[in-house]
Amino acid sequence: MKSFFHVSDIGDLGAALGEAKQVKATPFAWKHLGENKTIMLVFFNSSLRTRLSSQKAALNLGMNPIVLNIGQDSWKLETEMGVVMDGDKSEHLREAIPVMTSYCDLIGIRSFAGLQDRAFDYGETVLRQFVEYGGKPVISLESATVHPCQAFADLITIEEYRKKKRPKVVLTWAPHPRALPQAVPNSFAEWMNAADVDFVITHPHGYELDPAFAGNAPVEYDQMKALEGADFVYAKNWSCPGVTDPARYGQILSKDMGWTVDARHMAVTNNAYFMHCLPVRRNMIVSDEVIDAPTSLVIPEAANRVVSAQVVMKRMLESL
Ligand code: CP
Repeated sequence: MKSFFHVSDIGDLGAALGEAKQVKATPFAWKHLGENKTIMLVFFNSSLRTRLSSQKAALNLGMNPIVLNIGQDSWKLETEMGVVMDGDKSEHLREAIPVMTSYCDLIGIRSFAGLQDRAFDYGETVLRQFVEYGGKPVISLESATVHPCQAFADLITIEEYRKKKRPKVVLTWAPHPRALPQAVPNSFAEWMNAADVDFVITHPHGYELDPAFAGNAPVEYDQMKALEGADFVYAKNWSCPGVTDPARYGQILSKDMGWTVDARHMAVTNNAYFMHCLPVRRNMIVSDEVIDAPTSLVIPEAANRVVSAQVVMKRMLESL
């Protein structure tokens, strides 16, 4: 595996889920693979789960992780080509990337969408430069449009908790005070479309996800109707993806608190499990009673971030 951005990069999902089960049961069985190998984890943005789970996964495989916080531990980096660098950014990615990759065998990148320029974000401009100039396998640790380590962990969690062969999984938009990227819902949709589940998306008008990720998943604008009979409810906020109105890309179109997932919403489901990638704003995205209920999977989901990251790193090490 040379890169991990999309569900297609993992190949057969059944095989990947089987491998995840093995890795979870015997996390240190492949410690020899990472001997004398280094993974660099580069963060342009904050993180709790991704940072820690990636380091833990690397350590389980016997690798040495190096974590770099861009702009705090390093110079501020320029990401756009052809600019006059007369601002506060001292170094360009064009030099920084090959320097960083000369010190490691694998590299993971966290680089959120700026939400200003849809073409720049949806072109995965930063991530693509790491592929082009780095020459080492690249993992998206949440880039402008995708968060595959999260989506894989979400799928592992659904596989562990599903009570029927083909559960109904609902991705619901929920309100948030700040404009957030679409990476999590994009990847969740992409992975659910490839999985053996009945997948439904619900959100207010204007929040339509890019068709490259939403595919043919049904979109139901009536949230309560979408949630009827759901086995898993996956809540997430995202800003306007700019599909129906490119001028509104990255904007907040609604703060309707009626979309906050609470007991009223969960009551119409099939005693559904609640999921969220975290961090979560309590009583904005989800009520205390729903996230604190025994049916909340937010902690097992976060724990499975080690498993998903370890499967990906293991495969990359095996193909070096
Ligand atoms: N879910 C997730 O990626 O969490 P962090 O932003 O804390 O890494």
